[in-house]
Amino acid sequence: MKNILVTGGAGFIGSNFVHYMLAHHEDYRIVVYDKLTYAGNLDNLIAVQNDPRYAFVQGDICNREDVESAVRTYDIDTIINFAAETHVDRSIMDPDAFIQTSVYGTYILLEVARSLGLERYHQISTDEVYGHIPMGQSSKETDKVDPRSPYAASKASADLLVNAYFITYDLPVTISRGSNNIGPYQYPEKAVPLFTTNAIDNLPLPVYGDGRQMREYQHVMDHCEAIDLVLHRGTIGEAYNIGTGIEVENLSMIEILLDTLDRPRSLIRHVADRPGHDRRYSLDIAKITALGWEPGHSPEEAIIETVKWYRDNEWWWRKIKSGEFRKYYEAQYGERLRAAAPQ
Ligand code: NAD
Ligand code: TYD
Repeated sequence: MKNILVTGGAGFIGSNFVHYMLAHHEDYRIVVYDKLTYAGNLDNLIAVQNDPRYAFVQGDICNREDVESAVRTYDIDTIINFAAETHVDRSIMDPDAFIQTSVYGTYILLEVARSLGLERYHQISTDEVYGHIPMGQSSKETDKVDPRSPYAASKASADLLVNAYFITYDLPVTISRGSNNIGPYQYPEKAVPLFTTNAIDNLPLPVYGDGRQMREYQHVMDHCEAIDLVLHRGTIGEAYNIGTGIEVENLSMIEILLDTLDRPRSLIRHVADRPGHDRRYSLDIAKITALGWEPGHSPEEAIIETVKWYRDNEWWWRKIKSGEFRKYYEAQYGERLRAAAPQ
């Protein structure tokens, strides 16, 4: 494993992974292959843009010729697929691109990996494929997938394809299923960067329903470290959960966030809930910890560190929030916020 194609590497987790890999593996070459959708952002890769071990190719994973050309040009031996449409709320508004990229695009990457005989294909998946998990239970890798949103269904479909290529064609695959990531460079449509940047500007925080849904917020760098471990020590054909093993209620996350910024609870607005909102995710992380990994941050540390990054890096998010984002924000929250009385 020396020449790695990181698809979706201009997005949030992919770009953090590129930083992580270049810092930890001197002799690897990392090629980012990314369509640059609204979520892809070359600002995320400024710190590595002059590194001779890094290259960028703009392209769609659904385009077989372009993927093959990148793989041949850079003598790629490993594909790590981060490329996806990733926001549950957008998948409810319009699922089309989710199915295209995660289902058809994953199929194209698997076909290229198979036909060119690559050493490894790794799929970045999510805890959302398991669906809502009742209190007292947590998901093991062998549990059946039971996705409930178009986003989660597109990711679960990709996992099934990856597994089929392992069984049918002996393609050397692995899958990692991460919980909610937080940290630098996350597009501010997701809860933690949205709430943080709104709070900095003293704008209301639109909390879905009662805000008592539970997520396993983990620091993106911990996730990247665990993916690296699965790449090097994981068993071919297997999936690995990556999380903290600790769920946090959204309202508790918000309290930590507001306290870090010294902003009042009165910014909280309970708005109409997301349709089909999964109330709780919870991962059993025994399998990844058995490989010798443990999360480097508690959920509270991860939230505080993340909030401080957005506080200190307005250059990164202000231009995003003033562009296409405004239309999205109005469509997603306009009515809901107008209907919600100030608390
Ligand atoms: P993101 O939305 O920030 O980035 C996605 C990237 O993929 C963008 O750079 C985008 O331009 C690119 N992309 C989209 N469609 C493409 C296509 N057809 N061809 C090439 N590139 C394309 O997403 P993220 O939060 O960094 O998530 C990365 C991966 O991790 C996704 O597969 C996601 O499902 C998974 N994941 C995310 C989380 C999370 O909390 N964010 C948790 C678990 C798993
Ligand atoms: P999000 O960051 O969208 O991740 P996911 O839905 O993929 O877990 O949301 C995290 C949690 O925050 C989830 O329970 C939904 C909730 N949420 C809100 O309450 N308000 C919002 O505006 C957003 C974006 C999310």
